[in-house]
Amino acid sequence: MSFDLSSVNLQEVHDWSVDLARRAGQMMLDGSNKRFQNPSTEDHKTDAKKNAVDLVTEVDQAVEAFVISEIEKRWPSFKFIGEETQSAGADSVLDDHPTFIVDPIDGTMNFVHGNPWCAISIGLSINRIPYIGIIYSPFLNEMYTAIRNQGSYLHKPNQPPLRLPLQPPTPLAVNTALIITEWGADRTTIGTSALSESSKENFDVKLRTYFNLLRNSPNMVHGMRSYGAASLNLCSVAAGHNDAYWEGGCWEWDVCAGWVILHEAGGFMCEGNPPENFEADVEGAKVEEATLIGRKYLAIRGAKGGRKEQEDLAKWVWKSMEGGRMTYGR
Ligand code: IPD
Repeated sequence: MSFDLSSVNLQEVHDWSVDLARRAGQMMLDGSNKRFQNPSTEDHKTDAKKNAVDLVTEVDQAVEAFVISEIEKRWPSFKFIGEETQSAGADSVLDDHPTFIVDPIDGTMNFVHGNPWCAISIGLSINRIPYIGIIYSPFLNEMYTAIRNQGSYLHKPNQPPLRLPLQPPTPLAVNTALIITEWGADRTTIGTSALSESSKENFDVKLRTYFNLLRNSPNMVHGMRSYGAASLNLCSVAAGHNDAYWEGGCWEWDVCAGWVILHEAGGFMCEGNPPENFEADVEGAKVEEATLIGRKYLAIRGAKGGRKEQEDLAKWVWKSMEGGRMTYGR
């Protein structure tokens, strides 16, 4: 049986999460200052998780520990899924129960380099659907917020909240699209010449797809961007600064909060992979919403022409994929 949504005061959880994000953001600022003031000490330490580009800092861990302790005090019956506890081996099975899904620092690589494009991302899922999203970038001093069915907003200092998208949606088409992709931490490829070989390695599939979307053709995209923080990528698509964001390999804590913000701005989070029968029947293929824990996502902004334009763009990205589907385990 699904969880009774009416027993959760979404506004109260939202307001509390906004305050939590600001306090956690201050920890990021302080942690960054300390790191750069003491470059030769423990404060500057970075640990590799899966490989040398999958990083965690002490600030990631401290922020997550702080967030967990605050949630336990205020919402003791809610569950928690977080990037660092999961990496440390915690069991994190998503079910229908209200669950905070948190990335303490999304964009860790940027954080380590002193690049301001990073954020704390706090999502709340109920019945496996993202209901609340709070994304705060302390270095940019920008906060994105949303409650499902109540709109999404960008908050900047000394300004009234701005409703997303920031401009009325324009038509959406592949040959005018500005698409975000990410290289990701999974860099396994079958050889030095990834584009010339046939492989089912995720990194090869991505490289071929980027190539197909970018190379000169009547449908080549306007451009491709790679900013390094999934949560802010989703905010950027929600705002209308980019048309789509395609990535395989990120996790529910990277996308949960941004999903609500995108949805409330008229965007659509669909599967990063095409459905089974896609190649045989492109016209008839269904463009389904992604699953939260699926690790393959294609986020598309609101379009003047509505869902049809969004689905056409999704199908074009899928048609551009080469080398198989992306496959990611848990
Ligand atoms: C990563 C960033 C990156 C995305 C990766 C994520 P992290 O999160 O969002 O942009 O490409 O898939 O894992 O490790 O910085 O929290």
